[in-house]
Amino acid sequence: MIMMEIMKSIEKIREQKASLEEIRSIVSKEWSLLDQEIEKQLSSDIELINNISQYIVNSGGKRIRPLIVLLSARACGASDLDRIVKAAAMIEFIHTATLLHDDVVDNSDSRRGIKTAHQSFGNESTILVGDFLYSRAFQIMVQINHMGIMEVMSDATNTIAEGEVLQLINSGNPKINREQYLEVIYRKTGKLFEAAMVVGGLLSNQSQTVLNTLQLFGKELGMAYQIVDDVLDYSSSFEIMGKDVGDDLAEGKVTLPMIYTLERAMPDMQEMISQAILNKDSKNADKIIGCIQSTGSIASSVNDAKEKTEFALHSIQSLDNSKYKTALTTLAEIILHRSY
Ligand code: IPE
Ligand code: IPE
Ligand code: MG
Ligand code: MG
Repeated sequence: MIMMEIMKSIEKIREQKASLEEIRSIVSKEWSLLDQEIEKQLSSDIELINNISQYIVNSGGKRIRPLIVLLSARACGASDLDRIVKAAAMIEFIHTATLLHDDVVDNSDSRRGIKTAHQSFGNESTILVGDFLYSRAFQIMVQINHMGIMEVMSDATNTIAEGEVLQLINSGNPKINREQYLEVIYRKTGKLFEAAMVVGGLLSNQSQTVLNTLQLFGKELGMAYQIVDDVLDYSSSFEIMGKDVGDDLAEGKVTLPMIYTLERAMPDMQEMISQAILNKDSKNADKIIGCIQSTGSIASSVNDAKEKTEFALHSIQSLDNSKYKTALTTLAEIILHRSY
């Protein structure tokens, strides 16, 4: 990247961090309690568990999903601070567990600007600590003591596991279409965003109609989040997003930018890309990325993410206006334009 572009990217990230910070300040009390809750709930008398969980938790995740829980709960008028904070921590634990497992499955080397946990501690311990975080999340749910939340979260975690397995089955298959892709990203990512929103509504005993609204917002926003992630995998850099570029190609993972490219590329290029996916071989990555750019596939994918975000925003129009609802709207915009 040339110097000018690097400077621009750094400035953009600074602005995004500042905007996220502004949203967090709306729930500042909850946010600092969340930090304490996460720290408290991480503890185990097994040192290796503490080492790995501290390694991942202190590596600077954006904590978007717990932020959504806090904003949704407050936007719906929930008042039980202890339960709200516990629910937010629980969602972040589930997210973190999926990341530990996902990086083993995807064979990724970097996350959040540092080596992935499995690169530092090995696959075995990373998988087991992922299980620890998963089960700790369920212990927190028992403390929250809300049957509706238990139901939503057990369904969500089950669906996420299905999504990751479905993706594994699809990997190496260049014939994956948009429908199949959307199914995977709904399950692996949309579902947890959906759950984060719904849990906020359940904490304030909202009607089924309101819960449906929250669910739709979370689903669409979560899918937009994943589309943007898949775009960044081809268009960003390690310095900016803290993850390695081209991981998806190397894993034969067919994401939206690739689906558009396969539809639009010339036959010889189509063949090269199909072979790269089939063989999980990224030796032609530069040419393939060039083709993804020149066929307008990045722009089309971003446009799909934009449509999903607009749909999400439309769906929460019926919620009562509040600073929390406004913050959810702003968060959706940040997610769409995020670069890390
Ligand atoms: C990464 O999620 C996994 C995806 C669903 C794309 P985030 O981008 O929220 O990761 P952190 O927690 O901020 O590192
Ligand atoms: C992650 O999807 C989804 C889950 C962790 C369930 P990705 O594999 O695209 O996420 P990154 O790119 O590794 O963060
Ligand atoms: Mg991954
Ligand atoms: Mg990714």
